[in-house]
Amino acid sequence: MTENTIEVKNLVKTFGKFRAVDDISFYIPQGEIFGLLGPNGAGKTTTIRMLIGLLRPDSGSAHVLGFDVRKKPEEVKKRIGYMSQKFSLYNDLTVRENLDFYAAIYNNMPFRQRRERVDEMLEMVELGHIQRSQTRSLSGAWRQRLALACAIIHRPKMLFLDEATAGVDPVARRQFWDLIYRLASEGISVLATTHYMDEADYCNTIAMMYQGRLISLASPDTIKESLPGTLLQIDLGDPLEAQKVLINDPRVLNVSIQGMQLHVTVKKESDINAIQRLLNKANLPPNTIEIIQPSLEDAFTSLVSQQRVLDQ
Ligand SMILES: Nc1ncnc2c1ncn2[C@@H]1O[C@H](COP(=O)(O)OP(=O)(O)OP(=O)(O)O)[C@@H](O)[C@H]1O
Ligand SMILES: [Mg+2]
Repeated sequence: MTENTIEVKNLVKTFGKFRAVDDISFYIPQGEIFGLLGPNGAGKTTTIRMLIGLLRPDSGSAHVLGFDVRKKPEEVKKRIGYMSQKFSLYNDLTVRENLDFYAAIYNNMPFRQRRERVDEMLEMVELGHIQRSQTRSLSGAWRQRLALACAIIHRPKMLFLDEATAGVDPVARRQFWDLIYRLASEGISVLATTHYMDEADYCNTIAMMYQGRLISLASPDTIKESLPGTLLQIDLGDPLEAQKVLINDPRVLNVSIQGMQLHVTVKKESDINAIQRLLNKANLPPNTIEIIQPSLEDAFTSLVSQQRVLDQ
């Protein structure tokens, strides 16, 4: 048995000639929340499918809770919890019946223990008051909490969340993450994928995946600090036109449009007045230019665009 809940070394998965997962390595210590981020098609779900014993790796190794996923996929499946965006709940069962059903299929607990565990889960996800309601009548946020309870009813030590919060409102997402934090503090390790950058900040470590490869593996703070250059937030009337002007300037490392504003990374020591003059000359005078601290979204946009340049 290893100390880390997950150990992945040089893992590769190809579909035909296409390398969906290309030589990735990482580990997840017990009780850690590990975020796997990346654009669509980066290889996140394929990685998870290998780690939960559903897909056989081509090469490299992956151990989950001490078991080799290649040699002992069934041992892995029994011990992990898995929740995806398309979680399956039985609509014609009540909330309580769904939990009871999952408790029954995961292990053959005696009836009384099963009832206690279902009660414990209803309390944890705060759905006791609607335990007799039909699942089809639940809101998105309640369905999601029920799905989480079903995914952990058998007390897994490792929980996989693949876009488990997609389509749920921000308040519900926050409540969901509070639950995840609680599980992690009880020693459960979590691997989560998400496209919501605010959620990445909840993770202890973030792995950024791009075209099957890991292009960054660090804590959220380290990632923000490692952003090269100085980040400017520019408020102006036509961000799209301004982006075209700025991207060709040698001082500019990266430009992204965030909401109605431009986030521009310029080389350190760049003259900000010169950027202002450039925009004035192009007839795109900025309302304001200010230096800001990068968010994770800035850091990732910058990482991916650096990678695109390297790949060209
Ligand atoms: N069974 C398969 N056969 C062929 N190609 C596949 C298969 N499964 C995944 N792929 C391809 O592998 C790549 C990675 O897919 P994957 O689903 O792992 O990405 P992802 O990072 O989870 O993306 P998303 O954020 O959209 O969920 C994609 O190009 C996808 O089309
Ligand atoms: Mg996916």
